[in-house]
Amino acid sequence: MNILILYYSGVVNTKMVAEKIFDLLHGLHEVTLASIEKLTTDITIDNYDSLVIGFPTIHASPAQPILTFIEQIKQLKKSIPTFLFTTCGLYSANTLRIFAKQCEKKNIITILSKNYRCAATDGVLIAPTMNIWSCHEKRLDKKVENDVSDFMWKMHYELSCAMYLQG
Ligand SMILES: Cc1cc2nc3c(=O)[nH]c(=O)nc-3n(C[C@H](O)[C@H](O)[C@H](O)COP(=O)(O)O)c2cc1C
Repeated sequence: MNILILYYSGVVNTKMVAEKIFDLLHGLHEVTLASIEKLTTDITIDNYDSLVIGFPTIHASPAQPILTFIEQIKQLKKSIPTFLFTTCGLYSANTLRIFAKQCEKKNIITILSKNYRCAATDGVLIAPTMNIWSCHEKRLDKKVENDVSDFMWKMHYELSCAMYLQG
């Protein structure tokens, strides 16, 4: 399978999770990891079998650069099954749902969406006594690993259905 991992990361958390996903898939599949800010013109999203898109939750919404990115891309020629993830400090609210709706307009179809709670230094300004701001959620690595495995199962199912329908 040919998989494109796209991410926007304001600081480092989303990049770190995107790299974990890359490491889990690399070697088993053809995987490309790219930040939306450094996308080269030789990347054509239509050429991939599936996508992973990651971005931070900012004010209970997807970070603006990833929204602008999705608004600006052309509608894909075929539907592409996608794993969306967001990193957040505490609560991602409707972030993933908001982004999935925008993706659908471009033929990017969400088959799995997950949020990961990561260290968020800005949280100290809101609630200085809460120490969750200084660390990622427990067993983050294991959670990402399980989610990637879940995504691959769903992908295989999608591909099998598509092949069956094509006869
Ligand atoms: C301006 C700002 C607004 C944020 N808003 C939220 C929020 O609404 N909910 C939340 O859980 N985390 C919020 N966070 C925390 C980030 O989502 C979290 O730190 C994220 O992992 C940052 O990802 P990055 O390191 O890839 O930029 C906010 C952070 C900033 C700087």
